[in-house]
Amino acid sequence: MNPKQLTIAIDGFSSTGKSTLAKDLAVALGLNYIDSGAMYRAVALYALENNLVHDGQISPELVKKLDDIHIAFQFNPTNKKSETFLNGRNVEDKIRSTAVSAVVSEVAAIPEVRRHLVYLQKNMGKTGGVVMDGRDIGSVVFPDAELKIFMTADEDVRVLRRWKELKDKGYNTTIEEVRENLNHRDHLDTTRADSPLIKTEDAIVLDNSNLSQQEQLELAISWANKAKAIV
Ligand code: DC
Repeated sequence: MNPKQLTIAIDGFSSTGKSTLAKDLAVALGLNYIDSGAMYRAVALYALENNLVHDGQISPELVKKLDDIHIAFQFNPTNKKSETFLNGRNVEDKIRSTAVSAVVSEVAAIPEVRRHLVYLQKNMGKTGGVVMDGRDIGSVVFPDAELKIFMTADEDVRVLRRWKELKDKGYNTTIEEVRENLNHRDHLDTTRADSPLIKTEDAIVLDNSNLSQQEQLELAISWANKAKAIV
């Protein structure tokens, strides 16, 4: 098989560095990177901006609006990043805000939202050649992916990483607030009825608590090379 057709699914808990590894792998192997979490975040932002969230509860009206929500990714040659567009507007920064993080797991638990986004994600990956990260990529979106990686890390390591990331972006939050949000999201993501976060039997666990970005990449490349040799 041409290496361009390889499909790699990366799942795992929040703030385990899935997107960092996925992006690095995509560059190293010449594959497309798709951040499925950004799509749930874009739907959550749409709900917030259209007054469809009341006291943390998502209005049932949101599912009627799904066909009005257009999500696209565009490569920005200046910062060399793929950025998320919601109905033609660049929302890459807005979807990472604490307001969106606070409601996105509730949005992601709505079966109609999942069905809609999974359909789009399957379409984006139908010719292969992608690395996609999320929570249900190996279990639902690409169950036949040649390589599945399940990422995890110590809670303290994850909390600090996320807090630093937010601080660098100018968000003023405490470590305890970050811990609370992370635990809340992990709880919702693993216990929701529709396609909860699980490690599939064929996924390789990557605990990166004590691994550098480069070490993780080298490990993942070695797994990808093995997967390529088998297909
Ligand atoms: O990876 P992230 O933190 O950007 O994801 C945002 C939220 O979306 C998170 O609460 C989990 C959810 N999500 C999901 O349910 N399924 C996916 N494939 C990706 C993200």
